[in-house]
Amino acid sequence: MERYIVNGLRRLSGEMRVHGAKNAALPILAASLLCDGCELHNCPHLSDVDAACNILNHLGCGTCWQNNVLLVGKGESRDCTIPTSLMREMRSSIVFLGAMIAKYHEAKLTFPGGCELGPRPIDLHLSSLRKMGVEFEEEEGTLNCRVRDELRGAQIDLPFPSVGATENIILAASLAKGQTVIRNAAREPEIGDLVGFLQSCGAKISIENDGTILIDGVEKLHETVYHVIPDRIVTITYLCCAAITGGDILVTDACPDHIRSVFPIFEEMGCRLTVGKNKIRLINHGSIHAAKNVTTMPYPGFPTDALAPIMALSCVADGTTVFTETIFQNRYKQAWELCRMGADIKTEGRIAVVRGVKNLHPAHVACTDLRGGAALVIAALGTEGTTTIDEIRHITRGYEEFHTNLNRVGADICCQ
Ligand code: EPZ
Repeated sequence: MERYIVNGLRRLSGEMRVHGAKNAALPILAASLLCDGCELHNCPHLSDVDAACNILNHLGCGTCWQNNVLLVGKGESRDCTIPTSLMREMRSSIVFLGAMIAKYHEAKLTFPGGCELGPRPIDLHLSSLRKMGVEFEEEEGTLNCRVRDELRGAQIDLPFPSVGATENIILAASLAKGQTVIRNAAREPEIGDLVGFLQSCGAKISIENDGTILIDGVEKLHETVYHVIPDRIVTITYLCCAAITGGDILVTDACPDHIRSVFPIFEEMGCRLTVGKNKIRLINHGSIHAAKNVTTMPYPGFPTDALAPIMALSCVADGTTVFTETIFQNRYKQAWELCRMGADIKTEGRIAVVRGVKNLHPAHVACTDLRGGAALVIAALGTEGTTTIDEIRHITRGYEEFHTNLNRVGADICCQ
């Protein structure tokens, strides 16, 4: 079990480059099953990406890294089963469902079940694919899926703009017969990137101004070279790291447009932002002010994945912040760990009230999930003394060379 030993209160200053987005790369890797191979640039090298590659390898599409470029080969296999061990490596492996349905017209995989963020049902994925002619049978935790007659386009009105369900529908619809229309589709930038990838392979997809997605199924998709978008949550996390240390950081290779909803929160907290085309500079010379209210919403609202990093900042703000999480049921697990460091956080259901304290103190804490783990590192960077953070495997699922990158701009984090 690896851990971080963080010696805090080192002011961060310098330049940090953002890597490609995990949540864009994963559905794109599932989509690569449908084309004649691809060359992916700016794909982050993370354990979740390795898990997706293991699935692709199992399905007969060889994957290999060549100088930071991920190459995916054309899959020739007819095996449409993903073994439980591979499904378990990563919850979001459910995004392979739409791709397998499109390619093989059948799929056999394990039900993903709940995770550290609370129950993660896939009812919207299944009901949408049913409309496209897919039948499902559940047998002791295994999901058997089969196209009844033909995979056909459908009119789908999502009751909630689920990211994963939107991705699975797009994947299945790309090779279905006729047109699929997705209303109330998720609008996260990662959806746009999946669409961009599929378009570059010859898929016929368009996104209307109101967010409705139209997909006209095609017979086949060709090979492509594609560049994954920058990771918006990594960008926000780096900015939080700088803010809590009273730092001055220039985050490069980022996409500021994707994180506009977070700028007012940083500004309310007293940070100065200078935004360029693909870079953001954050300077915080003073103390952190409380951001009163933070409510997560589907994109373009404040992202649920940014809640924990901002919560870490609010622990040392001069005032009270009220967080309302509207997307997941259980996104406050890090609160207890932050309290071990002296934070004052009360949670009830989807609300968390954080009363800022003057200083946190070092403690021995453990990551509970990916973003909660990043929040512990942010808190430790702003704490005088040595904090030990266990279970960092959660962090390495989503942040490439996290501690090395922070150390380059002045942090003192050792990985043991
Ligand atoms: C994606 O999860 C991301 N994961 C999450 O990032 C992110 O937090 C989330 O979107 C919201 O932006 C990946 O892209 C791999 P949803 P996903 O379907 O697709 C409920 C991170 O830290 N729901 O929009 O699972 C569901 O239970 C991760 O990088 C249903 O009820 O998100 C949840 O409460 C964590 N039925 C809510 O909708 C369904 O069929 C949002 O889920 C599907 C979802």
